[in-house]
Amino acid sequence: MSELFTIHRGDCLDILRTVPDSSVDSVVTDPPYGLSDHKPADVVACLTAWLAGEEYRPNKKGFMGRAWDSWVPGPEVWREVFRVLKPGGHVVAFAGSRTHDLMSMALRLAGDSAGWRGARPFRRLRIHRQGCRP
Ligand SMILES: C[S@@+](CC[C@H](N)C(=O)[O-])C[C@H]1O[C@@H](n2cnc3c(N)ncnc32)[C@H](O)[C@@H]1O
Repeated sequence: MSELFTIHRGDCLDILRTVPDSSVDSVVTDPPYGLSDHKPADVVACLTAWLAGEEYRPNKKGFMGRAWDSWVPGPEVWREVFRVLKPGGHVVAFAGSRTHDLMSMALRLAGDSAGWRGARPFRRLRIHRQGCRP
C-alpha cells in the first residue's frame, strides 16, 4: 500500500525548515491567535522586532493561559510557508478578530520577499454559512 501522507510532530518552524522549496500545493492552518493581554507598547515592540527582521516572542499567556498563544506567528513562519509553497499555491489561515491586524502584518512582511499579493479577509461565521469560496 502506498503512503498517502505523513504526519510530522513538532514546532512548525523546525518542520517547515526541512521541507524543500516549492513543494507544497496549499497550506491550511489554524495558528495561535495571540489572545494575550496586548498593550500598545507590546504592539510597538512587536512591529519594531519584525521590521528589524527579528522574532517577537513575549513572555505572556494567551487563550486559556497557554504560552503558545502569547502572540501570532511572525514573519519568520510565513516566510517559510511561502518558500515551501508551489508557485500559485494558496494559504488559508484563520485569525482572531482581536489580532487579525497583526497576523496580516506578519503575512505582508513575509510576503514582500515571496510574492505576497494580498489577503481576502472574511469572517469565520460567513464561511460556515456560505461556504469557503475563492
Ligand atoms: C488556534 S489552536 C488550533 C486548534 C485546532 N484548530 C483545534 O480545533 O484543535 C493553535 C494550535 O497551534 C499549536 N501550536 C502553537 N504553536 C505551534 C508551533 N510553533 N508549531 C506547531 N504548532 C503550534 C497549538 O498547540 C494549538 O493546538
